[in-house]
Amino acid sequence: MSVKILGTGSFLPENVVTNDFLSTIMDTSDEWISSRTGIRSRHLVKTEGTTKMSVLAAKSALLDAGIQASELDLIIVGTITGDEITPSTACEVQAAIGADSAVAYDINAACSGFMFAMHSAYAYLQSGIYRNALVIGAETLSRIMDWNDRSTCVLFGDGAGAAVMGMGQEGILGFEQGSDGARGSVLACKSRANHNPLVQNETGLDYVHMDGQEVYKFAVTTVPASIERVLEKAQIRAEDVKYFLLHQANIRIIQSVAKRLHVSMEKFPISLDHCGNISAASIPILLDEVNKKGLLNKGDKIVMSGFGGGLTWGTCVMEW
Ligand code: ACO
Repeated sequence: MSVKILGTGSFLPENVVTNDFLSTIMDTSDEWISSRTGIRSRHLVKTEGTTKMSVLAAKSALLDAGIQASELDLIIVGTITGDEITPSTACEVQAAIGADSAVAYDINAACSGFMFAMHSAYAYLQSGIYRNALVIGAETLSRIMDWNDRSTCVLFGDGAGAAVMGMGQEGILGFEQGSDGARGSVLACKSRANHNPLVQNETGLDYVHMDGQEVYKFAVTTVPASIERVLEKAQIRAEDVKYFLLHQANIRIIQSVAKRLHVSMEKFPISLDHCGNISAASIPILLDEVNKKGLLNKGDKIVMSGFGGGLTWGTCVMEW
């Protein structure tokens, strides 16, 4: 028996924001955004928050898996944009879906959040501590964007994706994750400043800052190397993988990874064109799109790889 994904779900806010709309409210253009990133539109929340989107994605994944919320032992949410500092998004999801027996907590690993959540769930399930887990990647990134900074705000979107994990015949064949905290400043967003009686800091909230070119260099070197290591360990050739589901940051990063692995871009499903970059939510949303289109058959080998703030990265190969 091995740990596998039993079902997937996702939720995108109804409100679609095109590049053309952004060009009416800031100095940008569809040509600039789409040629550099591949992004054409993204969904941004009007009324939803991270918890509500997570709950809707979770319910869809439970339905797909044929599992009741009461059967869940573990809920992990990868997010950097929970609605509350406490309780965690995972605890709010637990309450909303009635997963009374589950232990629930969040993981902060930015765009690698879903992969880190999956890896933690994998360890719990593989060791026999728990039987069924719900893992979610969810973000309301529009809340932490500086809408006066055209170099970052046009890149991101809002949404949630979820997967139910349990035991089965096929499943996860290899996993690795890594962190490089020394390079954390290339993609950062400060928390609220201290304003206790002893210090006089400003209390204004910060927004996301990114050194795009450093993030690009990090991604195009770290991701293919991580995928190669995971495939080598699992003794699987890249040509035998049906799909590579990468974090949806930028089409040029994905093209570079495909080239380095000598794999056709046809094996790299894309959602960034209509979702933008949704950090921890991008991989589970993409997985759900591929799954619900019926593109995955029993025995197919897929790779998932997330990378981002921290810096962090996580890669997994599995048999569907
Ligand atoms: N519209 C029009 N012009 C813009 C915009 C915009 N939205 N944003 C920046 N510009 C301008 C800049 O002001 C600059 O103008 P200047 O030359 O007159 O000073 C020019 O475009 C070039 O700016 P750069 O920031 O150097 O743009 P670059 O070519 O590096 O592209 C990008 C930016 C697409 C982000 C690129 O660095 C990249 O691909 N980075 C990869 C990282 C990434 O995609 N991160 C996403 C989030 S991180 C993650 O998910 C892991």
